[in-house]
Amino acid sequence: MKFFIDTANLKDIQEAVELGVLDGVTTNPSLMAKEGIGGHDNVMAHYKRICELVDGDVSAEVIGTTFDEIVREGEALAELHPNIVVKVPMIRDGIKAIKHFSENGIKTNCTLIFSAGQALLAAKAGATYVSPFVGRLDDIGHDGLQLIEQIVNIFGNYGYPTQVLAASLRHVPHLIQCAEIGADVVTCPLNVITGLLSHPLTDKGLATFLADHKRVNA
Ligand code: E4P
Repeated sequence: MKFFIDTANLKDIQEAVELGVLDGVTTNPSLMAKEGIGGHDNVMAHYKRICELVDGDVSAEVIGTTFDEIVREGEALAELHPNIVVKVPMIRDGIKAIKHFSENGIKTNCTLIFSAGQALLAAKAGATYVSPFVGRLDDIGHDGLQLIEQIVNIFGNYGYPTQVLAASLRHVPHLIQCAEIGADVVTCPLNVITGLLSHPLTDKGLATFLADHKRVNA
């Protein structure tokens, strides 16, 4: 399973890179805004900086909502760096654009997936990744993980090469359950990745080991 970090924060990306387990990055316009990155040139420069930090796919989202806008923006993003994956919203023109990109060798991530039907459509159009949003479904009383399971099963039935990128993960159990289900990729904030490090018995055990060592080596 691949680990992506869901942020536009360079410090968090660097920390995940240093941990040695990072396979890629996902961003979205809200995450860019959170870092105060605005204006076409600044946005492009920021994506480039991220690509230079990480050896893996970097999802950069288009703002356009018509086929022409999505294609124009996506082609400009793809030209920035070979690691760029064009993130396209799940809308009618988005699906048409994904088909166009897949025929022209440009990687895509179809975002804002909330149903198995949407995922199936994106896979048929040739998306490299689909991003079902687990946490946002949980927020409205649905079962986000059940959607991951459905999509993994459907893609498996037909051998679709589209990868299931479980997004909007909020905590460690989300990530672990995605691994059990067989999601190809998880994307989450740094604290969820580093949350995998912790167990109270590890802390307690290490404290005892170090204390015992100190007792006989004082
Ligand atoms: C996916 O690519 C999105 O950037 C992200 O996972 C959304 O997460 P949120 O629901 O926590 O905003």
